[in-house]
Amino acid sequence: MSHTPSLWGGRFKAPLSEAALRFSSSIDLDKALYQEDIAGSIAHVEMLAAQRIITSEEARRIRTALKGIEREIASGKLDLSWEKEDIHMAIEQRLIQKVGAVGGKLHTGRSRNDQVALDERLFLRTAIQELRRLITQLQRVLLYKAEKNFGTLMPGYTHLQRAQPVYLSHHLLAYVSMLDRDVERLTDCHERVNRSPLGAAAMAGTSFPIDRAAVAKKLRFGGVIENSIDAVSDRDHLVEFIAVCSTVMMHLSRMAEELVLWSSQEFDFVRIDDAYTTGSSIMPQKKNPDMAELVRGKVGRVYGSLMNILTTMKGLPLAYNRDMQEDKQPLFDAVTTTRESVFIMTHVLVHSTFNTQRFEEELKNDFLTATEIADYLVQHGVPFRDAHAVTGRIVAYCVEHRKTLSSLTLREFHHFSHRIAEDIYGLLDPHRSIEHKRSSGSTAPQEVKRQIVHWTKVLKQRK
Ligand code: ARG
Repeated sequence: MSHTPSLWGGRFKAPLSEAALRFSSSIDLDKALYQEDIAGSIAHVEMLAAQRIITSEEARRIRTALKGIEREIASGKLDLSWEKEDIHMAIEQRLIQKVGAVGGKLHTGRSRNDQVALDERLFLRTAIQELRRLITQLQRVLLYKAEKNFGTLMPGYTHLQRAQPVYLSHHLLAYVSMLDRDVERLTDCHERVNRSPLGAAAMAGTSFPIDRAAVAKKLRFGGVIENSIDAVSDRDHLVEFIAVCSTVMMHLSRMAEELVLWSSQEFDFVRIDDAYTTGSSIMPQKKNPDMAELVRGKVGRVYGSLMNILTTMKGLPLAYNRDMQEDKQPLFDAVTTTRESVFIMTHVLVHSTFNTQRFEEELKNDFLTATEIADYLVQHGVPFRDAHAVTGRIVAYCVEHRKTLSSLTLREFHHFSHRIAEDIYGLLDPHRSIEHKRSSGSTAPQEVKRQIVHWTKVLKQRK
């Protein structure tokens, strides 16, 4: 079979075999970088003209043609089939086809090695901004739900056993706070992504009088990666970014798991709208929380991508190695999976309603306020450990006699401790008990309100 002779064919007597080309072609994936590639090429060519390495007329013709190619790709008119090797070759070949030999000047003082590194950084910059925006949206929905449900109490859990009453808002705000660390991590990662590798050329730099800083500035980078070997060898920022995605997904999977549990008939704490649940092909009564399950399931893909990139980079000698072409798959998959998961979780939450009545029911028939009895005894001079033991015996008594704490008579209480008086009953009401919390960041109403005010301010300011 015959294909277009490659742009590097000079040294070779025979073209690359079809089998080898098929195996090594990356255009199916890296065509996603076409806009970044063209933006990078335009910045490079303008710098070449400014430095008088090519004429401004040559630069102008190349620039115009590149803009045209961008439109051709956007409208699906350019052939980007596997024979083209990669997106960088496809664009350059098309450029030469359009403007003739002068197109061959674009690659002066540049290599595909710094070009690929540049494209990925430009791509990642946009992906980070987009992900930050989507996470912020999810935080806003959580905050909205926290505000709307303010005053609703729920059983808080440890070991998935009922522990203490907390505000539903408090629980939701825990996720806002978790996700905020992810936003911080993204911002931090962006700092390191935002450096231009262009001008490193293949690895050693170039003898042309290029201006690396000018290209970096044109592309709105914070600076350049100085060492030319490091500039083309480095993929740390991909590792870092996918690690952040993994953490985001881990957070989402915890939220997803709670949605799955809470929407079960056993819990019935939350109802997800029909539009975000599915039915069963055989059991007519079923309403399944598939979106949450899929988010939980997709976490594995992102963790897999993290292992993938770490393993690809392990043991690679400096500088560029073709192995590094394999970085696209984990990068793109992590970006898409994380972005789509955050997006769908936001929608599922918007279309979910908390069943406040169920929360109340659960609180009535439980021992969630047992800690209050222990604290009460402590306030009346009993050492905490003894108070804990006494309260344990009270709970055991209730279990045995099928009673709740608030249904015990004072006489029954006195059987366990004479320090207990009438005022104990106030504490056994979960709504009253919660008001006794005073530590900062606790589930006390004023503390939860403070959190709401804090996050409203933070999220309003964020773009
Ligand atoms: N498709 C390659 C990649 O993504 C482009 C760089 C190839 N460079 C080379 N010297 N063969 O890594």
